[in-house]
Amino acid sequence: MDGLLLPEYPYARLNELKAEASLYKGGLVDLSIGTPCDSAPSFIGDHLAKLELIRGYPPSLGTAEFLNSARGWFARAFGVELGDNELAACVGTKEMVASLPHFLRLRNPEKDTVLFPGLSYPTYEMGAIFAGCRPVRVNATADHRMDFESISREDIERALLIWINSPGNPVGQLEKLDEAYEWASTNNVVVASDECYSPFTYSKSPASILQFGRTNALAVHSLSKRSNLAGARVGFYCGDSDLVSYLSLLRMHSGLMVAGPIQKAASLAYEDESHVNIQRDRYRDRLANLVESFGKLGCQANLPDGGLYVWAEIPSEFPNSWAFVARLAREFGVLVSPGDLYGPLGARYVRVAAVQPDEVIESISGRIESWA
Ligand SMILES: Cc1ncc(COP(=O)(O)O)c(C=O)c1O
Repeated sequence: MDGLLLPEYPYARLNELKAEASLYKGGLVDLSIGTPCDSAPSFIGDHLAKLELIRGYPPSLGTAEFLNSARGWFARAFGVELGDNELAACVGTKEMVASLPHFLRLRNPEKDTVLFPGLSYPTYEMGAIFAGCRPVRVNATADHRMDFESISREDIERALLIWINSPGNPVGQLEKLDEAYEWASTNNVVVASDECYSPFTYSKSPASILQFGRTNALAVHSLSKRSNLAGARVGFYCGDSDLVSYLSLLRMHSGLMVAGPIQKAASLAYEDESHVNIQRDRYRDRLANLVESFGKLGCQANLPDGGLYVWAEIPSEFPNSWAFVARLAREFGVLVSPGDLYGPLGARYVRVAAVQPDEVIESISGRIESWA
């Protein structure tokens, strides 16, 4: 057999260090995976156990209630009104990210290349590989944005899809979505904009690619981070009506459906903004605290413009980020992600997720006092 050999799951590579960090006397502080630690809004709970919502198959496209709420939220957040066939549900966005190249390639088998940010969420690359496509990392400009100028003519001609992610994971940069839209329409490439962190945009108003047009463009949104509903597995994608119609039919054939009670809960979450405002302030405070603590460790780090992560350059005396991560885990019980999990350019960086309660984040500066 010469089938696809799967790489180890990125975070599984941290398991040993996690076990060692757990031996620290004060216990493990896990800042590696970006899984929310704060409660989901309590008004959602009442609807999760309703039997009438699990009796029948839920619509794969999304219930009318879910679609209306998501559409209403999108209009309030970005000033963009979406019509019928321009929005559909997905089962969280990771499955969407992983399956989109495969589904788009069924529509356009002539193209075989998926472009994505040089430093990025690992699933963009995996999705390309699953589709039998060439995964191509796009260089970044000095300010960490995608450098469209650097994409070669051959990659442009072969491109099925380009991913953009703003605010970005792991760096927290805000991309120029107008340029992304322009580049994609000039080159006739589908652009998918992963906007799952947009509710946590700090330095500007949140932006969507659909503010610049919708031909050949998709925006992808999730409630995992916005509403601390990562366990509910729900999000949506929206944009070009031809693309949304094609993808939603394919997804219906594939049996991809968000569970009925979750669609109900999600529609309520999209109606409320107050819990998101509280969460945004929490993350901003935690990120500021982490920038300070990692500064004391000799790292270079700034407050990100968006997202949940501090992207910190490790001190020069460490040969690579794994050596830094190992020392921090073994001696201080703090686990962060080595930057090369997001691409080779991350080899001298770590990603620190602000996903522990305030008091735990605040306790880090005490733990690391003896760091020399
Ligand atoms: C950039 C990015 N996109 C998508 C996801 C997937 O989120 P979910 O599947 O929970 O919607 C994540 C999760 O961390 C992410 O960082």
